[in-house]
Amino acid sequence: MGLQQTHRGFVVALCAFLYSSLPVSSNLVVLVKNAVSVDSDHAITLPCWLNPSQSAENLEVRWYLGKNFDDPIMLYRAKKMEVTPYQGRVEFGLKDATSGGLKTGDVSLKLLSATLKDEGDYTCYVSSDQGYDTGIVKLTVTKMGAPPILSVVWKDNVANVSCASEGWHPEPRLRWSDQKKDLTPGGLQHSVDSSGLQSVHSWILVSDSSEVSCSVGLSDEGAKEARLLPVPPQKKEPGSSAGGGWVAFGILILLIAVLASLGLLYFRKRALFLGKTDKPGSDEENQKLLLKDVVQPTDLSTCITHYVNVTLEETGSPHLIIKDGKLRDKGGQYTEGQKVTCLTAIKGTPGFSSGQHYWEVSLENPSVGLKKSWWVGVTSAAIILPESDIPLTASNGFWFLSSSPDKEGSLQISTEPNVSLHVSSRPQIVGVFLNYDSGELSFYNVKDKRLIASVTASFRGEVFPFFNPGIGDKAPMEILQKSVLDLSSDMTNSVDET
Ligand SMILES: *[C@@H]1O[C@H](CO)[C@@H](O)[C@H](O)[C@H]1NC(C)=O
Repeated sequence: MGLQQTHRGFVVALCAFLYSSLPVSSNLVVLVKNAVSVDSDHAITLPCWLNPSQSAENLEVRWYLGKNFDDPIMLYRAKKMEVTPYQGRVEFGLKDATSGGLKTGDVSLKLLSATLKDEGDYTCYVSSDQGYDTGIVKLTVTKMGAPPILSVVWKDNVANVSCASEGWHPEPRLRWSDQKKDLTPGGLQHSVDSSGLQSVHSWILVSDSSEVSCSVGLSDEGAKEARLLPVPPQKKEPGSSAGGGWVAFGILILLIAVLASLGLLYFRKRALFLGKTDKPGSDEENQKLLLKDVVQPTDLSTCITHYVNVTLEETGSPHLIIKDGKLRDKGGQYTEGQKVTCLTAIKGTPGFSSGQHYWEVSLENPSVGLKKSWWVGVTSAAIILPESDIPLTASNGFWFLSSSPDKEGSLQISTEPNVSLHVSSRPQIVGVFLNYDSGELSFYNVKDKRLIASVTASFRGEVFPFFNPGIGDKAPMEILQKSVLDLSSDMTNSVDET
């Protein structure tokens, strides 16, 4: 403001000198749209025009951010555009489709690609030798975040459901509800990362088996929602209350639905998840939890009888090193940080379109240690495009369990919404069991002989084993090959232990 005042004073002095008695700003009136909002990376026009309409071709038009009058974003004077640091990113825009542009006094600013840093108050300043006027346009840059991720921890038949979502701007609103009304969260936290993006995390206690919904959005329209029905263990966990605190023992979630952003897609998917406790003895209880329309996960000892030796597809990928069923990334030179993408994903053969099949993947290596970054599952995609924008979710034909180096103590599953499963440690060998006909896909921690998660899906077309050794993880992933002899001894072992 101070600067503007000074400037006004200067103009007054100048005009007084040149035109002795002409009043300032008498014949230039600038109108603006006060606030505009744009999704990041998109173009936006900040509308500003003269009223009544008159040509601005011979005027000075200056756009500046905040109080930086002397460092304009765009400066047009003496019928020329002057060079500013924003050159190439800004130009004159049209306030609406019928506008005649500069000739009719439309001096709107067009910003070609908005970033979060572009937020702020923009002054549109128009000056003639007779006076000047200004208007301020507030620009908000929005960024849609990721769909919320839900996770559940049980204690004494009370579910502590957490909802987390990241990558928003400005601060998103998080809302819990059941079918009837809004619910008050137990805790709600907002945080901002170094790039200015906002995350939100909230938890709520649910004591009866009623569906809860968590929706996160900048407005109600664009909100992303995840719902789940937490189903408590039927039998009380002996001693689970004695230890005090919440125990991540069994997770059984019936996923009801997810409303994707913009309401375009409505998924109705059901999945059963069984997470495992560190406590011995809970397995039996969890195995008994059954929902009418959910497939009972198959016993590991039965799975093993369907062992199939999977081989990796020869893709000649420049990002992977494949040797004797061992797989890892080439290391180094990726642009997108450590994020695991389809660049390093690969299919296995054979593909399946019926029957029951089981295979195992080793994630440990005596010299390098346990693998932390991996995907293991199945896909119905005919080809895996290395750089595709399609989300790798169940509705797009990807069903997999994943582990990230930064998420100690949890594994993720590619359903909508993503569900985190609490685990006491990362598995050394993951067993994958596919019953194509019943739609069962189960994952096991083979060393501990425990079920990690079981998902029901309706498979269509041919389904292939799917792997990803992650990025920057030195430990290889090995597709275990078994002979008839190994299998009979495996089966004896599992019979012995039951
Ligand atoms: C529920 O879980 C969250 C973590 O997601 C935790 O911060 C919170 O304290 C838990 N609530 C209770 C009552 O234990």
